Amino acid sequence: MTKLYKAGILGTGSCLPERKLTNAELENIVETSDEWITKRTGIRERRIIDDDLPLAKLAARAAENAIHDAGIVKEEIELIIAATLTPDYLTPNLACSVQKELQLSGVPAFDMNAACTGFVYALNVAQQFIENGACRYVLVVAAEALSRVTDYQDRKTCVLFGDGAGATVVGRVEDSAGIIGCTAGAYGELGHNLTIPCLYSTEEDREKRNEGKKQVIWMDGSEVFTFAARIMAEATLRVVSDAQLSVGDLDHIFPHQANARILKNAVKRLEYPIEKVYSNLEHTGNISAASIPVCLDEASKAGRLKKGDKIVLVAFGGGLTYGAMLLQWSK
Ligand code: ACO
Repeated sequence: MTKLYKAGILGTGSCLPERKLTNAELENIVETSDEWITKRTGIRERRIIDDDLPLAKLAARAAENAIHDAGIVKEEIELIIAATLTPDYLTPNLACSVQKELQLSGVPAFDMNAACTGFVYALNVAQQFIENGACRYVLVVAAEALSRVTDYQDRKTCVLFGDGAGATVVGRVEDSAGIIGCTAGAYGELGHNLTIPCLYSTEEDREKRNEGKKQVIWMDGSEVFTFAARIMAEATLRVVSDAQLSVGDLDHIFPHQANARILKNAVKRLEYPIEKVYSNLEHTGNISAASIPVCLDEASKAGRLKKGDKIVLVAFGGGLTYGAMLLQWSK
């Protein structure tokens, strides 16, 4: 592909639901304890979307914040990509509903589902549209309402997940900044370790779940854990070495927020200081595709990112999928 421009993140935004679900509240719902959850996951509370709020509205708020932060007007957006595994409808897709909320009639809009890796995949796609000159500004919004596919009788999963939305505006940047490289992959043969049936399910899928709850998460936590810790380290190493850099050159790592123990394990493999690994897991839980853009927005607004900082965004998720992106902060 002819690369005409360099792509980078020009603005970030996020929106979390107001309602908090604490570990103490979960103690009243399933047989668990604040101590177990905190020790095994690092999570203390997560946000839960109101029953009557469409995810598209949360996503649109995050998008508006990102557009404002980028210093552009919404009419300059030429493409909307939504990363989600929990859209309000199978059709219209979430991106079209966000487009409607933003009143951007006519702008192309599509969804991508790579589970928790969705944001990295979507950013990589947006990057192509910028680099080849097809678009000037692309909105990448990642939003999840995982509480709607969580079985609150399954203590192995219900303590982990939360809801939220994060967004970025991707556009042209000067040569010394922006996206440097990306590595991504998937292992469909491992997909059975983390499933949410939709229009089809097997006998085995039904047997794994509590009766009557077809469309809920089922996960083999330890299989996913082992995959996650290994692949996050490997993908980070690969994306930095492809750019003739080393992990020590990184100013920050923004990993998908699934479990504090996974982060520690991956970082130990990389021999990278944990203080430079951003984490908000304690307050958000795992918000799948939305986790990295929400972290980026928090860090950016808190002044923790400087122009030129070298950053890796790294995620794993259902599929099983993974992706790592190396970039230099361009704001
Ligand atoms: N409270 C109390 N006890 C619990 C709970 C709980 N909430 N959950 C599980 N246990 C029990 C189990 O029943 C088990 O008891 P048993 O030995 O009597 O059977 C015991 O704790 C140990 O269970 P493990 O599953 O071995 O616990 P582990 O330490 O592996 O932690 C966890 C489980 C937190 C799920 C971990 O495996 C994990 O984080 N895995 C990765 C999950 C993840 O990140 N998924 C996101 C994927 S991203 C996406 O795309 C959605």
